[in-house]
Amino acid sequence: KEERRRKLFEINRITARYFYYNLMKNKKAYTYLRKRGLSTDTIKKFGLGYSNPNWDDLLNYLKNKGFSVKDIEEIGLVIERKSKTGYYDRFRDRVMFPIVNTKGNVIGFGGRVLDDSQPKYLNSPDSLIFSKGYNLYGLNIAKKHSRGKKIILVEGYMDVISLYNHGIKCCVASLGTAFTPEQAKLIKRYGNDFFICYDSDTAGLNAADKALDILKNAGVEAKVIILPKGKDPDEFIKEKGKEAFEKLIDEALSYIDYKIYLNKKKFNLDTVEGKIDFTKEIASIIKEANSPIEADVYINKVSRETGISIDAIKKEIYKNQANFK
Ligand code: CTP
Ligand code: MN
Ligand code: MN
Ligand code: MN
Ligand code: MN
Repeated sequence: KEERRRKLFEINRITARYFYYNLMKNKKAYTYLRKRGLSTDTIKKFGLGYSNPNWDDLLNYLKNKGFSVKDIEEIGLVIERKSKTGYYDRFRDRVMFPIVNTKGNVIGFGGRVLDDSQPKYLNSPDSLIFSKGYNLYGLNIAKKHSRGKKIILVEGYMDVISLYNHGIKCCVASLGTAFTPEQAKLIKRYGNDFFICYDSDTAGLNAADKALDILKNAGVEAKVIILPKGKDPDEFIKEKGKEAFEKLIDEALSYIDYKIYLNKKKFNLDTVEGKIDFTKEIASIIKEANSPIEADVYINKVSRETGISIDAIKKEIYKNQANFK
């Protein structure tokens, strides 16, 4: 079985090299990446590539190298035709992002269209050598720049790469699925200061909330970096630069601050109803604070935000706790 895995890694490695070679020859794809602001060094560092438009370009290339169609299919590079009369390439006419694990093996690929067609991204399927929920895009590179330091969790391939391109080299992304407890365990081994910076849209705000809880359950106290509405990290750093992004890192919200931030959006604090529901919600979160001092800071904050007395908030928080004085 180990032998088989080695063979599959080898096919992916050869494929990544082939995609890279295609990219260097394909003006349209290369220009696309350069127009998105990536330097030639960044393109090389992440081993970006291009899959040709033909239906069986990669298939023929790999067959000529002596690899079996069965192995090529196992890792999802080709798909069997419905009519069972042959195979075709999964990735065609896409910019390719090799996914490399911390041991340096190419475990899969993501591929992006060059225009607005759908689906925007395609990913390798899970296989003998690839489990999406157990790996993080960019960790192979981030781990070299984050030893005992920051790791920033972002949504997308382009966010990781674009931040790297601007000198923020410690970013990772989950792989087209929601962040998992296994991924939390994985990054815990490579840093000690964790941040989440998801897209500033409804999906991103809620996904960040979930990731924050998953990290907390894994014993990691992450902070959340807030981007201007509608932006993702790539768009932000391209527009505003590295210093502006570093300022956002410094201003990142702690666990409870982020919960307050989210719930302020959820409830209308101009109404009595809204204030009450908001305060009840936050009270149940403050209950989980690490220390009485920390709790006190947030109790004061909520009181300031709502005009509800500190005493009433405390009673709400500790109403079922015997030790409340
Ligand atoms: N994704 C995916 N399949 C899709 C759309 C998204 O797997 N059809 C994953 C990709 O990993 C993508 C991430 O979700 O990088 C975030 O999606 P999105 O924010 O829509 O894309 P961006 O990363 O911002 O991509 P781009 O800037 O290239 O438009
Ligand atoms: Mn998004
Ligand atoms: Mn983007
Ligand atoms: Mn995005
Ligand atoms: Mn988007």
